[in-house]
Order: sequence, then structure tokens, then C-alpha cells
Amino acid sequence: MRHLIDPMDLSVQEIDELLDLADDIIAHHDKYTKVCEGKKLATLFFEPSTRTRLSFEAAMMELGGNVLGFSSSDSSSSAKGESVADTVKVVSCYADIIAMRHPKEGAPFLASLKSDAPIINAGDGGHNHPTQTLTDLLTIRREKGRLNDITIGFCGDLKFGRTVHSLIKALSRYENIRYVMISPEELEIPEYLKEEVFQKKNISYQQVRTIDEVIEQLDILYMTRVQKERFFNEADYIRLKDTYILDMAKLKKAKKDLSILHPLPRVNEIAVEVDDDPRACYFRQALNGKYVRMALIMKLLEESA
Ligand code: CP
Repeated sequence: MRHLIDPMDLSVQEIDELLDLADDIIAHHDKYTKVCEGKKLATLFFEPSTRTRLSFEAAMMELGGNVLGFSSSDSSSSAKGESVADTVKVVSCYADIIAMRHPKEGAPFLASLKSDAPIINAGDGGHNHPTQTLTDLLTIRREKGRLNDITIGFCGDLKFGRTVHSLIKALSRYENIRYVMISPEELEIPEYLKEEVFQKKNISYQQVRTIDEVIEQLDILYMTRVQKERFFNEADYIRLKDTYILDMAKLKKAKKDLSILHPLPRVNEIAVEVDDDPRACYFRQALNGKYVRMALIMKLLEESA
């Protein structure tokens, strides 16, 4: 049984193969419309989502399979007190593969120990979001033509942003990546990432407080939302939520071929005027998420057959 819980569960070679498969699905979509006929994907979302859940469901439908599931814990028996372990034990009797999002870090891992079907972590608390990472890697490779030799700026909530944590881990295995961390002091990346990724692999990174002082250097600017749902104190959220707002004025000094990524949803951190700039990749990125999830569903079903 093959699960995807952490981006590091996939080797670099496997990631490259998944991205190649996603590229082929984009180029030759008709080849793939029946590969999951008779298969079912369950989406168990204990936390809100638009892109991840719907792109998983669209992915399975476009592969010829079917979908079932729930989009909030309120509409499942977890509202009656059922455990995650019992929920997946039961759902894996009904579905061939399961995508799960949960506010508690480690819940999809626990589910993978009990499930009779492959589990895909669709986001666990502030921890990991490996399918967003695959989406981001596919987007970077399609926009830049490479995954090595880039300067990437991560901006915003680097403390709670699980997409940032997962992408940093995944990129640490590629050559010549220069990391620029743009955040207020309170929202810097967690200590465990500094120790387990940067210090352990002897990777240096720059830490700054403003976009302006680094925008000229960047090949990729990865913007993030301040994660309201992870704050203990609303006053802190209100104080920090609009720290960074990327607008056309800020982009004046940026490279002509900068790629602006954002996992979305956006709140205020990218002005709507930026959407029409060719450097804005975030809606293409959301579309790439469907194709790379098609590739992942195919791989995990094949390896768990
Ligand atoms: N990027 C992302 O995870 O979006 P959703 O929360 O809408 O799924």
C-alpha cells in the first residue's frame, strides 16, 4: 500500500516522473479519460477547501472514475465523536483511494496506519501539503523550464503556512536553490525546519522583513496568506494580516521573467491589478493542481493494486 503523507515520501526521481506524467496528461488528455474506470476516490475534508478538494474530484472524474466524500466534519459522523481511525477504516471499504484534509497535524498519517486504501494528505494543520507541493513544482518547471538554479522568495506567513513548509523540504533536494524568507519576526519559518532542513543540509538562506529589499533578485516570488485559522489570538491576526500587499508599484523593480506563485486562497496579499500581469502564475498554478493530482491518483492506484 503506497500513501502520500509528506513530500519527502516521494524520491526526486518519482517526483520528476509524476511531473512528466502531468505534462503528458496536459498534452494528450484524451489518452487518460478511461484509466480509472470503475475506481472511486473518497475526499474526506475535515477543514474547508476549494482547490484541493475540487481539483481532486475533477481529476478522478477526468480519469473516468467516480467520487464520494464530505466537505466538512459537521456533515460526517466525526460530529458524533467518531475517530479518524474508525472513519478511514470504514471509508476504505467504499473507496479505492482517499484524499484527507484535517486540522490536526499527523491525522492523515494516523489514517494511513488504519486504512485499507492509499491515503493522500490533502493538508494537515500547519504541517504539510504534499499535493500543493507537486502543484508548485509542476508550475515552477513549466514556467521556468527547470527546478534547479533558482532564487525563490517565500513571503507572508511562513510559520503556519503548510504549503511553504512542504515546498522548502521538497526543493532542498534540488541543486543551487537560493532561499529568501520574507516575513515579520512572529511569522518566521518554524525552528524544526531551520534545524532539520537548512542546518542539517548546510543550506544558507536570507531572512528579510520587506519585499522591496529583495524583489530584484527573485526568479520566483511565493506569496502566502496569513493563516487566520491557526492564530490563537485574533488581535495578533489583525495586526499582521496586511503586512505584505504585492501591487504593480512593488513589481517595478522585479525581473521581467519573475514568476509569482500563490497556493491560494488570496485575501489581500496580492492586489487584483497584478492578475493581468504575465508574471502572475497563480491561476495557472491552480489548474496545474488538477493535472498533477491525476498523475498522483494513477501512480498510487497502480502501486497499491
Ligand atoms: N491551495 C489550497 O490548499 O487551497 P484550498 O484550501 O482551497 O484547497
